[in-house]
Amino acid sequence: MTSRTMKWDKNCRLGNPVMDSQHRLLFAIANELLEISNPAEEMPEIKYLFYHLNDYVRGHFKEEEEYMAKIKYPGLEAHKEKHSLIVHDLNNTIRRGRDVFEIKGRLYDLLNTWIYEHILIEDKKYATWARANNTPQSSPQP
Ligand SMILES: [Fe+2]
Repeated sequence: MTSRTMKWDKNCRLGNPVMDSQHRLLFAIANELLEISNPAEEMPEIKYLFYHLNDYVRGHFKEEEEYMAKIKYPGLEAHKEKHSLIVHDLNNTIRRGRDVFEIKGRLYDLLNTWIYEHILIEDKKYATWARANNTPQSSPQP
């Protein structure tokens, strides 16, 4: 069974080293999950990776929101709402999935549309705004 994974490409790059690194790690965790080909045998890994993905997404969104607040990005509130919708959908994906194959399919759709588009459209807006307003780009933590 071939797996569909999330493709990172340069269009995803915001030019903000912290956020770009976090987005790449997000793709990496998601891909580990999507690449599991034998769900029946790998249930503990699926559970662990899903928990990790959920946790990472929340932590990343929180940092992104703190960054947007720090630079006084005017679209912060609207952006936060989009984050809550993604977190909500992510939780529902697991709760509503009938079996692991369905969960994987829904997860792929969610990650590849929601999150990918979110980075390409919404995250690019704050990055563009930050550049236009000369606010600092954060640098990667060690
Ligand atoms: Fe975002």
